[in-house]
Amino acid sequence: MAMTGTGRMKLPRLAILAAGLVAGIGGLGTGSFRGHLDDPVERRADRLLREGRRTYRYDTFGDEAFWGGTLRLHETIAGEDHGGVGPGVGPAGALGVGLKVDVEALPRSLREQLRRGQVDLDDPANTLALLDLDAVVGVKGFLSHDKQQLLSIGIQCALCHSTVDDSFAPGIGKRLDGWPNRDLNVGAVVGLSPDLTPVADLLGVDEATVRGVLASWGPGKFDAELFLDGKAFQPDGRSAATLIPAAFGLGGVNLHTYTGWGSVPYWNAFVAVIEMHGQGTFYDPRLADPVQFPVAERAGFDDIRPDRDRVSPKLAGLQFYQLALPVPEPPRGSFDRVAAQRGKELFSGKANCASCHVPPLYTEPGWNMHTPEEIGIDSFQADRSPDKRYRTTPLGGLFTRMKGGFYHDGRFATVEDVIAHYDGHFGLGLTAPEKADLAQFLKSL
Ligand code: HEC
Ligand code: HEC
Repeated sequence: MAMTGTGRMKLPRLAILAAGLVAGIGGLGTGSFRGHLDDPVERRADRLLREGRRTYRYDTFGDEAFWGGTLRLHETIAGEDHGGVGPGVGPAGALGVGLKVDVEALPRSLREQLRRGQVDLDDPANTLALLDLDAVVGVKGFLSHDKQQLLSIGIQCALCHSTVDDSFAPGIGKRLDGWPNRDLNVGAVVGLSPDLTPVADLLGVDEATVRGVLASWGPGKFDAELFLDGKAFQPDGRSAATLIPAAFGLGGVNLHTYTGWGSVPYWNAFVAVIEMHGQGTFYDPRLADPVQFPVAERAGFDDIRPDRDRVSPKLAGLQFYQLALPVPEPPRGSFDRVAAQRGKELFSGKANCASCHVPPLYTEPGWNMHTPEEIGIDSFQADRSPDKRYRTTPLGGLFTRMKGGFYHDGRFATVEDVIAHYDGHFGLGLTAPEKADLAQFLKSL
């Protein structure tokens, strides 16, 4: 059986090779192959894509000065045997707070050991080994020469905006860039820091309050506006944190974030400098507002000009890469095709969803912003942004964010709940079967 199998394999492979050679020679002959190399536009596109992917996955923009240097997060992770404090965090603990492991960064021998259960998942030394391999998605470890001590730690965009396909084991697989990591408990990760007084000082509260706020976020959420306005809770007492959104399918979309702060490169610079604490230039005079953004105004976030700028040179590539990230296809069998087809007609017809979620962007071409009254919700999160509105969320790849709920704060647990909300708010008069069809369509996006 095996022999026949390999024998069979050889022929097509040779045929493909031959076809490739002929195509290559043909291409050279007509000049189209050289054309690709000579075309400065294609060359730049190629370079930006590669650079952007590297930045998205691996760049810390120097933020280790904050996460390691100031918050000393690495000390808790390493544990006292490896230059830190306490027992340390083993790979199981890291996976437990929703961190992901990139299986393609692991050498074959390590994969084998993992498969055989020969790796102690509670030993922080193994976390150090994974960090040394750049295998912990979104986290960069800085190790001593002998690799026994963890000296510092930094974070990357991929921490929140990538996950893995679980192809090796839960939490371990191939990277899925752009998919929000809805398992990641950002608050728990930051809460590992042995000293949060720098954050407490920024917010003007005590450290216990900061720890309480971090614990209130839960998986898949982060509060980017907390460091601008100091508001940690909604008026009804729920956390003010928002869900981590998708970072794929953003090409052609005008404004970004749930409240439309700006374009992709605007928000990329904002996050890299203000949230991740990377070393870079950032300018937005809208933040110099002591009433709306007291924390940002006090800290001078409206105009940040470090001696060295490690963010601005990366913005073009980063944007290019993000815009290239495709909307993933929902898995086969995850929705009913026939019902989804009926739902599609309702989406553009009776339910009128497409008036805001314009296909194929599923947001409005143009100024894609709405007042809270228009969509029938409170203004709390909108009021934390410059335009005090909500941005129409692009709906592509909705199946990747079924965990954590829908709308900026996850207030609707399921797509059915979202549809029920619209049905009531707009008085659509959808029947139960129509609602079900619409839900299947949303799951097909
Ligand atoms: C700690 C988690 C975290 C990290 C790290 C992070 N983000 Fe985000 N990102 C979020 C959250 C949460 C939002 C939603 C913010 C809001 O609407 O207020 C967001 C929003 C975005 C959006 C808007 C998406 C949309 O729907 O329009 C983009 C683009 C983005 N981030 C890119 C990046 C890039 C690039 C980096 C690295 C420089 C990065 N993020 C780092 C959590 C994170
Ligand atoms: C008036 C414009 C408008 C109309 C009409 C509209 N939406 Fe929305 N939609 C929005 C805005 C704005 C948001 C973001 C709300 C938030 O995050 O708080 C949103 C969010 C959503 C979300 C949540 C996406 C996520 O990732 O959290 C879904 C699902 C959705 N809409 C589906 C629909 C469906 C189905 C219809 C038709 C029944 C519809 N929308 C009609 C503007 C609209």
